Amino acid sequence: MYQFDVVTLFPQLFPSFFECGVIGRAIKDKRLGFRSWNPRHYTNDVHHTVDDRPYGGGPGMVMMYEPLAQAIQSAKKQQPKAKVVYLSPQGKPLSQLALERFSKESGLIMVCGRYEGIDERVINDLVDEEWSVGDYVLSGGEIPAMVMMDGISRLLPGVLGHEDSAEQDSFVDGLLDYPHYTRPEAVAEQSVPAVLLSGNHEVIKKWRMKQALGKTWQIRPDLLEKLDLSSVQKTLLEEYIAEQD
Ligand SMILES: C[S@@+](CC[C@H](N)C(=O)[O-])C[C@H]1O[C@@H](n2cnc3c(N)ncnc32)[C@H](O)[C@@H]1O
Repeated sequence: MYQFDVVTLFPQLFPSFFECGVIGRAIKDKRLGFRSWNPRHYTNDVHHTVDDRPYGGGPGMVMMYEPLAQAIQSAKKQQPKAKVVYLSPQGKPLSQLALERFSKESGLIMVCGRYEGIDERVINDLVDEEWSVGDYVLSGGEIPAMVMMDGISRLLPGVLGHEDSAEQDSFVDGLLDYPHYTRPEAVAEQSVPAVLLSGNHEVIKKWRMKQALGKTWQIRPDLLEKLDLSSVQKTLLEEYIAEQD
């Protein structure tokens, strides 16, 4: 079982995430485990204070060292070998490659910040890695933690059935995914490309590869630059580009 431990001030955000879809099934099948750790439970004052004003002035509040550190330590006691990840806009941009690496481990401890963020000394003492879900700022680390948990979970053995296999998803081979169609054959004056109705699996495979290359070239040329395309792929992409004129 892969174990997620999430340090959060808002554990109530998570239950529905773990009830639905493939993640819900994985929890029921005991392929996934989830526990939350609330820094508020590690406070001694009547108000259960977890934040304070920033030294040096400025707007907002900062999550204090002690309650947060104790919540992380409690999670670490349960999972001593797990990496501690802080979700932060200052982290490395999350990628499919990183998710694949995390999916090979047996669990993860995730720290969700709130307010202006967390006391830097928590990062220095207890955080192994910082990851960002994108170059924008959200109000808390809970949604980024769900993004990470979702991305990791679907890579775990048995979580996706063969039918929704992750093998052909975007980024797995460095390209965006090809377009998908389902019934009806014609809708809103658009028909399914005839090749997909041909029953010729070789031709369909080639068409899908061409579309994946073409879409990546159009939308994310930066991804193509990182790839060493085969001669077949180069020809398919040239054909795709020529067809656009
Ligand atoms: C309002 S943000 C703090 C932003 C911080 N002052 C900064 O500019 O870097 C509060 C929390 O949301 C989470 N967060 C916000 N944006 C994020 C992102 N792009 N990726 C991961 N976590 C994010 C972090 O846990 C952060 O501590």
